[in-house]
Amino acid sequence: MSPSDVKATLSFSDGSPSIDLPLYKGSIGPDVIDIRKLYAQTGKFTYDPGFLSTASCNSTITYIDGDKGELLYRGYPIEQIAQSCDFLDTCHLLLYGDLPNLTQRDDFHKLVANHTMVNEQMQFFLRGFRRDAHPMAIMTGLVGALSAFYHDSTDINNPQHREISAIRLIAKMPTLVAMAYKYSVGQPYMYPRNNLSYAGNFIHMMFATPCEDYTVNPIIERALDRIFMLHADHEQNASTSTVRLCGSSGTNPFAAIAAGVACLWGPAHGGANEAALNMLEDIQKMGGAERIGDFIRQVKDKNSTVKLMGFGHRVYKNYDPRAKLMRETCHEVLTALGLHDDPLFKLAMTLEKIALEDDYFVSRKLYPNVDFYSGIVQRAIGIPVGLFTAVFALARTVGWIAQLNEMISDPEYKIGRPRQLFVGAKARDVVPIALR
Ligand code: CMC
Repeated sequence: MSPSDVKATLSFSDGSPSIDLPLYKGSIGPDVIDIRKLYAQTGKFTYDPGFLSTASCNSTITYIDGDKGELLYRGYPIEQIAQSCDFLDTCHLLLYGDLPNLTQRDDFHKLVANHTMVNEQMQFFLRGFRRDAHPMAIMTGLVGALSAFYHDSTDINNPQHREISAIRLIAKMPTLVAMAYKYSVGQPYMYPRNNLSYAGNFIHMMFATPCEDYTVNPIIERALDRIFMLHADHEQNASTSTVRLCGSSGTNPFAAIAAGVACLWGPAHGGANEAALNMLEDIQKMGGAERIGDFIRQVKDKNSTVKLMGFGHRVYKNYDPRAKLMRETCHEVLTALGLHDDPLFKLAMTLEKIALEDDYFVSRKLYPNVDFYSGIVQRAIGIPVGLFTAVFALARTVGWIAQLNEMISDPEYKIGRPRQLFVGAKARDVVPIALR
């Protein structure tokens, strides 16, 4: 990161001296103004709740051009990744900076496969949860608990510890999500099968039982692999920023990723896939396509809190490129499974069409995001609605780790410590309780 010749000048209308601030150029995307010395030079902070104009770090991993609707992983367009790679290729790319060659691919697959089992003790830990607990509540607990099982990889400042915890997390997430599901339905856990692909193994652990042979459907396998690829990273979103902030204190990698899982759960973020499907089911129950008009009116009503879930994005002000790919997968899966007349999918298509033509959504540049379609695909595959966000967490784990490792390796990294504009009471004396 080197300063450009251009400087930003900050001046004040009260006669305070103006100051020059360095400006940095990225390889693509907006320049940034370096305000790190602002407080020392002016005694003032900047104010930017929600980080609308603040870059919290420099990064080489993922780039989004929200106006164009472009997403690049390490420079490669998401469309090409989705077409030519699989999820483990994507993991290699995000973690190490480039796509693997044949030998690296083979080695990486073996490395991940070596770590798919979890400590047998984990199942007793799982038993402490109610059977009807939300899978994300379980996942937050299980991922955090990994630090209690793998003491040899908890030092975030040790590159070997970071490497082994990264592989463990990527390898064990499918096992944990499938265990959470099996626990909820009261079926025996299925051990991982390392002769299957990453997605195939997950499907096997989810839907196979010890009583019968189970063959993984290749269409479902490919669809799930695509869901994993499309959700693998998305630069400095809320959960990734949470992981970075949590990890900046020097906590162990499992704890930092558990914080990311907790953040992802929210309906404005990863929880949107579950919320979008629940919304479609609610409209369906209310009368289906005929009631879309009423629903859209509610969404547009300033006094209501109803949102069109699966629509809108902080960064994309154009069609989410992941949504386009997921829409394609949605068609493929529904056709292959004989569900092309699925009423919920039809409802989703009608809702999308109406919203894309409605001035409220057009003027605010609200387009469908990836979660609008990923829920429909997951439901068609047989994944229960409550588990959707856990599947997202499984896929995003690699992105969280890549971003965490990038931060720790950055010589400029410091513990994250935002400042505030204090608007509360000034110093005052405590009045004795009898006089209050
Ligand atoms: N339905 C109706 N109105 C919306 C929606 C929506 N889904 N999203 C934004 N708006 C309106 C919002 O009310 C505001 O209107 P006005 O200017 O009249 O006050 C305007 O659009 C701008 O919205 P904002 O809240 O300032 O936008 P934001 O960047 O803070 O929020 C968002 C982005 C994703 C939280 C929001 O669009 C949203 O809540 N969408 C639904 C939840 C969702 O699908 N989330 C998944 C995001 S993609 C997956 C992921 O990255 O996790």
